Amino acid sequence: MSGDDPREEAPETAGITGSESGEPLPDGGAAGADDVALDPWGSSTVSDYRKLFEEFGIEEFDEILEEVPNPHYLMRRGVIFGHRDYRPVAEAMQNDEPAAVLSGFMPTGDPHIGHKLVFDEIIWHQQQGADAYALIADLEANAARGMTWEEIDEHARDYLLSLLALGFDPEEGTLYRQSANRELQDLAFDLGAEANFSEFQSIYGFDGETDVSHMQSVVTQMADILYPQLEEPKPTVIPVGPDQDPHVRLARDLAERMRFFKVSEAYASFELEPEERDLVADFHERLDPADFDDDTLRCTHVAEALEETPLEDLAVDAATLDSVLTKLEEGGMEPLRPRTRFFDRRATEEAFEALIDAIDGEKRVYENHVDAFEIDRDEAEELAREVEVENGGYGFRPPSSIYHRFMTGLTGGKMSSSVPASHISLLDDPEDGYSKVKAATTGGRETAEKQREKGGRADECPVYELYAYLLSGDDDEFAKRVYDECVGGERLCGDCKEQAAQLMKEFLEEHQEKREEVEELLEETDIELESPRRR
Ligand code: TRP
Ligand code: SF4
Repeated sequence: MSGDDPREEAPETAGITGSESGEPLPDGGAAGADDVALDPWGSSTVSDYRKLFEEFGIEEFDEILEEVPNPHYLMRRGVIFGHRDYRPVAEAMQNDEPAAVLSGFMPTGDPHIGHKLVFDEIIWHQQQGADAYALIADLEANAARGMTWEEIDEHARDYLLSLLALGFDPEEGTLYRQSANRELQDLAFDLGAEANFSEFQSIYGFDGETDVSHMQSVVTQMADILYPQLEEPKPTVIPVGPDQDPHVRLARDLAERMRFFKVSEAYASFELEPEERDLVADFHERLDPADFDDDTLRCTHVAEALEETPLEDLAVDAATLDSVLTKLEEGGMEPLRPRTRFFDRRATEEAFEALIDAIDGEKRVYENHVDAFEIDRDEAEELAREVEVENGGYGFRPPSSIYHRFMTGLTGGKMSSSVPASHISLLDDPEDGYSKVKAATTGGRETAEKQREKGGRADECPVYELYAYLLSGDDDEFAKRVYDECVGGERLCGDCKEQAAQLMKEFLEEHQEKREEVEELLEETDIELESPRRR
């Protein structure tokens, strides 16, 4: 053991994490350079995860952690840091209702310990009862990365073996490759009808030079994300890195755009903008129908009441007031009554008729919408989906996502498949894995003495990350002990790395043994391992 020098290499800042208060968190601070642009095909690094919440509306995972049954250690340790709309998935698993998990892998190189996070996330959801899907994004690898089919086949096999070795159950779950899944491609074609080039331009920065296959790989990914819902709509989670968030947002949009009906709330036959609706809702609440002729509150009454109220007392600007007044005056003597509206967006004629029939109680039918007076919003959403599915629509629920932190490269900076020393491949010779950890950058101090005095910087240490993300497995106490000992100055980097390197070696040995054991299992699955395409 090389002794006390806590620092074998300059500790290039590996990244920043920590809570808002600046207190270090024992959650492994993974990060890289400095931009927050989320680019699925760029070199994604994120220096400040907080920005993802503010700028992109990703929600903090911590806030729903308590609602998750038996949370995975990656969730408990903050490695899974964010989500979009994960609640329905957590709830479905909790209540033994249908739920699904899906993620995809571009077979561009060896699977490495970063991919293991995603494998583990899929497997954990499968163990919690979700239908699990893992796909090989071979079309994307070919179109966006220029991989040959031969390379793709080789790497695909390696991803699949690792996934199975880590515990994916192929009998319960589904494996496919994009190029061989006809249903998927049909869905992609359908979804393409709701997406256009300007949108791709603004989301992905595509331009006139972008080749069409690349665009096709985007709609294919959209289809991947919605694929688990082909049989029936269900809450679905897509575990990915935050670089994939643009895809998730687009898929959520497309899911919505494919729906037959849009459910909203209304007060009269005409449409109101959200701000206008809030204003009318407020007056509807305040005004008593008993104060008007035949005990009926009418559009014109609300218009009058609005006109008598000084603009300062209304929560809208003059233009909004003007437009709502015009609408109410045109409505005139039409009674003003809250209702649930089903707007016909994409329904067939039969589906629209079926919806009308299915609505119980008082209803009013217009050319492009139906208003229901005795159904609340949630019931209406459910009914709309039911009628859609019965009439040949998909009835998609917007897919949810969870985001894990990027791992810091072992050499500092970002973990990159193209820099072997920066990452550990799941196929690395265990001895090489050992050496890579031993050579890793740390968050240690210049001297052992200083380290004892000030403590190490576990939050900026790629080696600590290895402990938190992988080497401690489910053992939170062990991870915490490493952290506490490090920041408390009791742990020196030399020994710490020796221990991590040893654990890494054991992990790789065991994993590779399991990979051999599941070879046969892989042959039994029905995923095509060889592409029929031209090389
Ligand atoms: N684009 C993903 C990547 O670059 C791979 C992928 C394809 C994917 N389809 C997906 C990921 C569906 C999640 C869900 O790795
Ligand atoms: Fe050093 Fe280990 Fe602390 Fe990292 S976690 S700084 S390697 S003691």
